[in-house]
Amino acid sequence: MNDKKLKCILGEDVLVLLQAQIEVEYNASVQYLAMASWADAQKYMYAASFLYKQSEEERHHMLKIMHYVNNAGGHALAPKTTTGILDTFSSLKEVFLQALQNEMHTTKAIHTLVDYCLVHKSFATFGFLQWFVTEQIEEEATARRNLDLFDLIPQEGIGLYEIDKAIGFAANGKSV
Ligand code: FEO
Repeated sequence: MNDKKLKCILGEDVLVLLQAQIEVEYNASVQYLAMASWADAQKYMYAASFLYKQSEEERHHMLKIMHYVNNAGGHALAPKTTTGILDTFSSLKEVFLQALQNEMHTTKAIHTLVDYCLVHKSFATFGFLQWFVTEQIEEEATARRNLDLFDLIPQEGIGLYEIDKAIGFAANGKSV
C-alpha cells in the first residue's frame, strides 16, 4: 500500500471531485456577495441582508467540505479564482432569477458527485453528501419562494418596496 492510501481514507478521484465542489461553493458565495452589494447600492435593504446571509451560508458549505477533506487525511486547497461573477443587474427580479439558476446549478453538481460516489462505492463521501442534498432542497425552495413574490405583488408604485420587505420577512420566518 502506498503512503497516500495510508494517509487518506478518500480516493484520488473523489478528492479531485470534492475540490471541484469547493470551488462551486466558493463561486456561489462570491456571486451572492455581488448580488448583495448590488441590492445594497440600490437600497433594497431587506434583499441585501438576505443575500449577504446567503453568501455566508455558501462560504460555510465550502468550509464544510474543506474540513471533511482535511479530516479524512487529504489537503483541501483554498479556491483562488471565480468564474462568471455578475456584478450588475437590470432589476431586483433578475437577481432572484439568477439566484435560482445558480442554486439549480449547485444542485446538479451535488447530484453528479453523489452519483459518482454511489457508483464507485465511496460510501463515506456518499453519506457526507446527504446533508448537501437536503440543503439544496431548502435552498431551491427559498429561491423559488423569493421569485414567486414578483408574481404575487404588483411591482408598480410601492410594490418593489413591499417585495423587498417580504423577502426580509420570509427570510426571518415571519409572515408579511
Ligand atoms: Fe451551497 Fe446554495 O449551495
